[in-house]
Amino acid sequence: MYYPGLKGVIAVQTSLSNIDGEKGMLTYRGIEIERLVEKYSFEEVAYFLLYREFPNEEMKVRFKEKLINYRPIPNYIVGILELMPKEMPLMDVLRTIISSFNLPEKDGIYEAAERLISVFPTIIAYRYRQLKNLPVIPPNSSLDHVNNFVYMLTGNINSTHAQILESYLILTMEHGLNASTFAARVTISTESDLISAITSALGTMKGPLHGGAPSGVIALLEEIKTEDAICEVIHKKLENKERIMGFGHRVYKTTDPRALALKNTIMKMDELPDWIDLAVKTEIETIEILKQVKPDHKLYTNVEYYAAAIMKTLSLDESLFTAIFSSSRIVGWCAHAIEQQNNNTLFRPNAMYIGN
Ligand SMILES: CC(C)(COP(=O)(O)OP(=O)(O)OC[C@H]1O[C@@H](n2cnc3c(N)ncnc32)[C@H](O)[C@@H]1OP(=O)(O)O)[C@@H](O)C(=O)NCCC(=O)NCCS
Repeated sequence: MYYPGLKGVIAVQTSLSNIDGEKGMLTYRGIEIERLVEKYSFEEVAYFLLYREFPNEEMKVRFKEKLINYRPIPNYIVGILELMPKEMPLMDVLRTIISSFNLPEKDGIYEAAERLISVFPTIIAYRYRQLKNLPVIPPNSSLDHVNNFVYMLTGNINSTHAQILESYLILTMEHGLNASTFAARVTISTESDLISAITSALGTMKGPLHGGAPSGVIALLEEIKTEDAICEVIHKKLENKERIMGFGHRVYKTTDPRALALKNTIMKMDELPDWIDLAVKTEIETIEILKQVKPDHKLYTNVEYYAAAIMKTLSLDESLFTAIFSSSRIVGWCAHAIEQQNNNTLFRPNAMYIGN
């Protein structure tokens, strides 16, 4: 049998996550993401994915301390960063920098995972500020992982923004055998190392069919501008056979649970920006229109719809989007690499020769 793109083929067994596209459900190690995002921090969920259990108080303190200690970028890596051409895209920079890390193999895969998860935001923020000709902000060891990320990017400590970003990062940490996770597992299955697996994953994440960008959603809402234009703009797009960005998903046939959870986090903000109000109204109206125009397809909002809201609320550059997404998904990549290593079979599918 031939399955292009391995569509429908079950290639691994995993305990890391489960997606029910019909019910709109996503669990990490058996726990609904809504609960994880409500009750746990980035550090706790990352620990849970890596180590199979939630940390007790002592483990939590130790894990947090490690993540703080590993934040600074080693000097030799700073040297490489400084040498990279300014026009080099951020994802290319991240892929190159991660592959340059010298992590002693004797320290083991867990230690390597913690180091990479910890230093990743520092590299993003360093490069971002370097390109904007802004002074680079060193990590602040009094802040937790996400507050420190926001601080290194913007220079401000803003707990509301950190809370919103933390929700996004937790909700996108893990999503089954997506292309980048598969790439990481294939690499580690050759008994290669974690650096190589994460480098493969980053190269895969870079592609527009995977890493995506919220720019389409931002453009849509900018075109709509005011509530009374929603109906007209959406109908016009559908008549022109255009896709409505931020709607529809290959797996989810109802609202993407990550979009719903992100929306809930955003709605808890004390002051909602006007932009969010327009996004919510557009969502409601568009779903109704899609039900009428495309009754055979179940089209609801996907995670990118509200990811766009996050980027806009935090005034973050679009150029950061895939990198920030990778800063959470790196946890899933590491957890999958560990799972693969613990029960390894080399990936080696066959190709069907069709003549030349
Ligand atoms: C995400 C996506 C690629 C998944 O698509 P899919 O499940 O493979 O569905 P298909 O591309 O086979 O489309 C099936 C039908 O639904 C329609 N459809 C799917 N998404 C649509 C959207 N966002 N707007 C309008 N129609 C859409 C298609 O036009 C097609 O209709 P047709 O059979 O009448 O031609 C698709 O929904 C899409 O392009 N969405 C917009 C881009 C986006 O938000 N991407 C981020 C994903 S996280």
